[in-house]
Amino acid sequence: MVESTGNIESLLQEDRVFPPTEQFKSQANISDPKIYEEALKDPEAFWAKFAEELDWFKKWDKVLEWDPPYAKWFTGGKINVSYNCIDRHLSSARRNKAALIWEGEPGDRQVYTYWDLYREVCRFANGLKSLGVEKGDRVTIYLPMIPELPIAMLACARIGAPHSVVFGGFSAESIRDRVNDSQSKIIITADGGYRRGGIIELKQNVDESLDGSPSIEKVVVVRRTGHADDRMVEGRDVWWHDLVADQPLTCEPEPMDSEDMLYLLYTSGTTGKPKGIVHTTGGYLVGTYATTKWIFDLKEEDVYWCTADIGWVTGHSYIVYGPLANGATTVMYEGSPDYPDRDRFWAIIAKYGITILYTAPTAIRTFMRWGEEYPQRHNLSSLRLLGTVGEPINPEAWVWYWQNIGGGNCPVVDTWWQTETGMILISPLPGITTLKPGSATRPFPGIEAEILDDAGNPVGPGAGGYLTIKKPWPAMLRNLYGDPDRYKEHYWSRYPGIYFTADGAKVDEDGNYWLLGRVDDVINVSAHRISTMEVESALVDNPKVAEAACIGKSHEIKGQAIVGFVTLKDNVVGTDEIIAELKQHVVTKIGAMARPDDIYFAAELPKTRSGKIMRRLLRDVAEGRALGDTTTLADPAVVEALKEQYGEEE
Ligand code: PRX
Repeated sequence: MVESTGNIESLLQEDRVFPPTEQFKSQANISDPKIYEEALKDPEAFWAKFAEELDWFKKWDKVLEWDPPYAKWFTGGKINVSYNCIDRHLSSARRNKAALIWEGEPGDRQVYTYWDLYREVCRFANGLKSLGVEKGDRVTIYLPMIPELPIAMLACARIGAPHSVVFGGFSAESIRDRVNDSQSKIIITADGGYRRGGIIELKQNVDESLDGSPSIEKVVVVRRTGHADDRMVEGRDVWWHDLVADQPLTCEPEPMDSEDMLYLLYTSGTTGKPKGIVHTTGGYLVGTYATTKWIFDLKEEDVYWCTADIGWVTGHSYIVYGPLANGATTVMYEGSPDYPDRDRFWAIIAKYGITILYTAPTAIRTFMRWGEEYPQRHNLSSLRLLGTVGEPINPEAWVWYWQNIGGGNCPVVDTWWQTETGMILISPLPGITTLKPGSATRPFPGIEAEILDDAGNPVGPGAGGYLTIKKPWPAMLRNLYGDPDRYKEHYWSRYPGIYFTADGAKVDEDGNYWLLGRVDDVINVSAHRISTMEVESALVDNPKVAEAACIGKSHEIKGQAIVGFVTLKDNVVGTDEIIAELKQHVVTKIGAMARPDDIYFAAELPKTRSGKIMRRLLRDVAEGRALGDTTTLADPAVVEALKEQYGEEE
């Protein structure tokens, strides 16, 4: 059975449809629906066409080698991602075009033309080399949303050193786990970053993480806030500005095999240990390039803003690699949407004349709650296309976004994908697709999705099942770093040779896909992916806790909120102070985004006779619902007692 976290019944009653306007269609990068059939007939030729638009040092011999579950794309080809994102644009007028427009939270700003980006990436790439970084070495990046972040990524790509970006909200312990798993030699950080008027202590977190990360030889530090100069450790730490000061202005890009690793990105899975998702070079670039071009309908004169943090895959694919491979102007903002006031996003749109905005439903729901007065303060008429990502969008939020931000004339592309998929797989094409609020609509051309039941049979229209992808796609993950068994087990064992997404979905009569949320133990909090097991291990790490179980509870703004059910050790009495302590403990262990909304004390946790915790029943308790089937429980009184204690909260 697929458990739904969204309310599918209300979604499927949604009958408003939004066909593309003639005006949009007439200028769209792709407007002929025949492309779906064509791509289906010969997906390899379809992808190869996009690959032809990029610059290769040596052309590929084969588009695809598929030996399930291992795919190789564009084999025999030699290519460099940084060359395609930068150098490729230098021989035309794009050389002087803004590649990156950046705004810091305090209001400082910088614009990098493609030429500027070229110079800064080359200088930093040379700096990395001078520190002994060689092709194949992993480099961890733990930076705020400042230009040095994409510059560092592109410099790594230039010299063939895979990067592993760790989101700035993660704790010291989370950095340590990721550094140790990737065996990085170098970590790049900043003294701090600005967020909601305060400073995030990035350097401090790195310093703490290094106690127990023996692979790290050097720490490169960007001077962003200037408040932690005394933290520099002689011999180990080097300032970014010192490192690049005397470096040559050019650096030859390393010709990489298509299948060389471009980056590693850790994401949460069903167990407590984060998985290192491996993305490679040629296919990833082709996939992000193609989807950016068609889904965002990107044009030379667009000013494109994806509000994600580059610490997540959305930022990798759709702030950095996809847009820059297209020669676009991509915007980056460092801080919070409510600083100094709740109109910051709208002020940025008006200020830079942003034409394409890509954000998360959780942000849209927050803006809805804040009210229309904030967008109304600014002229948003430059916008021509809107996008969403990261979680299901409820039709109310979709329509609000369309109306209040898009002024009723911008298509909204709801894009479904995952860290593992590397690129968007299900989404409207804005010049073709009739939009339905709440539905991600259709698989991208060349992508074959199917909804299967437990036995692996396709389910018919309207029925819920597991979303699977039947054929390989260019930007798909290639492995889990250092853990091929888990790769096979997790994604390819349920239906051999078919990719298991761990998402539930339905298809309606018109062939539109409706995503229903995760079917595993992953919680989606404000479009951030967190595993119940990670939070549980953080809770039981506290000496007062005997046992813990976490669930994602439906939340109006965040999509889901974390609730921890905790059994305390015998001599400990549950108090508000302990609740606060446990929440803080999770923040220290994982990071602020994993802070539980609620902690409930339980005398015992509901378990089956074989000892498995029944989280489904805990969700019923937390969401104030009647309890589901309790017959498999060892002792139904346990959950009845919890219901009595906490069940009336809703
Ligand atoms: O459950 C799906 C949800 O986010 C999960 C992937 O999370 P992550 O790897 O962090 O990547 C997020 C950004 C690509 C998916 O398994 N998800 C993502 N986009 C959507 C979505 N759920 C519904 N609709 C979407 N558009």
